[in-house]
Amino acid sequence: MALKNDLILRAARGEKVERTPVWLMRQAGRILPEYREVRAKMGDFKELVETPEFACEVTIQPVDILGVDAAIIFSDILVIPEAMGLPYEMIEAKGPRFEKTIKTAADVNLLKIATPDDLHYVIDAIKLTKRELKDRVPLIGFAGAPWTIFAYMVEGCGSKTFSKAKKFLYTQPLVAHQLLQKITDSTINYLRGQIAAGADMIQLFDSWAGILSPEYYNEFALKYISQICNAVTAVPLTVFAKDAHFARRKMGKLNCNTIGLDWTMDIAESREMIGHTKTLQGNMDPCLLYADFSTIKNETIKMLKAFGPDKHIANLGHGLYPDIEKDKVKCFVDTIKEFRF
Ligand code: CP3
Repeated sequence: MALKNDLILRAARGEKVERTPVWLMRQAGRILPEYREVRAKMGDFKELVETPEFACEVTIQPVDILGVDAAIIFSDILVIPEAMGLPYEMIEAKGPRFEKTIKTAADVNLLKIATPDDLHYVIDAIKLTKRELKDRVPLIGFAGAPWTIFAYMVEGCGSKTFSKAKKFLYTQPLVAHQLLQKITDSTINYLRGQIAAGADMIQLFDSWAGILSPEYYNEFALKYISQICNAVTAVPLTVFAKDAHFARRKMGKLNCNTIGLDWTMDIAESREMIGHTKTLQGNMDPCLLYADFSTIKNETIKMLKAFGPDKHIANLGHGLYPDIEKDKVKCFVDTIKEFRF
């Protein structure tokens, strides 16, 4: 059935749009009192992710409450390591923890290549959400990019430097490549499963792109992102590599539709480096949403003008912070939806 609002898909394909479409990273989550209510009922974040009815409910909340032009399936990038054999826990106010981590070639050999069956709860959540959305807006599926997933599998938790993960690249490069290839194969299976279940668009999150040197990013990250782009072509794909300034020219050559920008990337310079064939996504500093309403409006319009009409999907330069007020988020979304070139 045809989508009632397919602005984001058309913008991703570089087609003309009546207005710039918008969605937000972390649009489902703690900024919404309605999310916090469901979360309080469930208790545990993982239980929420693993229960399709609840994942569906919180996926649709921002479409109803914020009026965004797409839903993104409520899940986490860390479901992939778990499906490969490394279970995680989400510790309240602290973040993810892995009980086992990857240290040696033997650890890598024990991991399996995940299939959509291993992640049936996400696949079921996508099918249910597609049904419940009733084609109002597209549903975005996602996965972590291999380097970011690798970083969590080696480190076992968040880190300022991810120095254990980087040490692995410098001390065991061949084993690192084996692990990255297993993550890549799992991710391709998983994303194809998401698309078969109904995902209309895909985003890869490379949250820790910015901590590698350009040469290492090319060798240990872009190489695998490129494999995914070449293997997952049934729907438009976005690559969001946070802080990867140095990789923008190379990202312009990936076989994907859209490149996500963070707020530290100059818009005109990014357009020049990435080229004119790609759609760009982003890139407002989420902290703008702590400002007053008129500052939010003015800065948002400035951003829209800097990107220009077409080939732009408005978003933040990274996820919303939990203490941003819902009405400020709504102001950002409404300003974009009301603006015409
Ligand atoms: O609305 C959406 O964007 C969809 C849902 C989504 C979540 N995580 C839900 C979530 C998405 C796309 C992610 C991706 C994700 N998860 C990334 C990549 C994007 C990024 O932010 O860079 C990363 C690095 C993770 C790993 C992760 N998950 C961390 C480090 C944390 C803890 C940090 C925190 O904010 O507490 C999470 C937990 C998490 N994932 C929450 C949500 C809503 C908070 C859990 C809660 O409700 O308490």
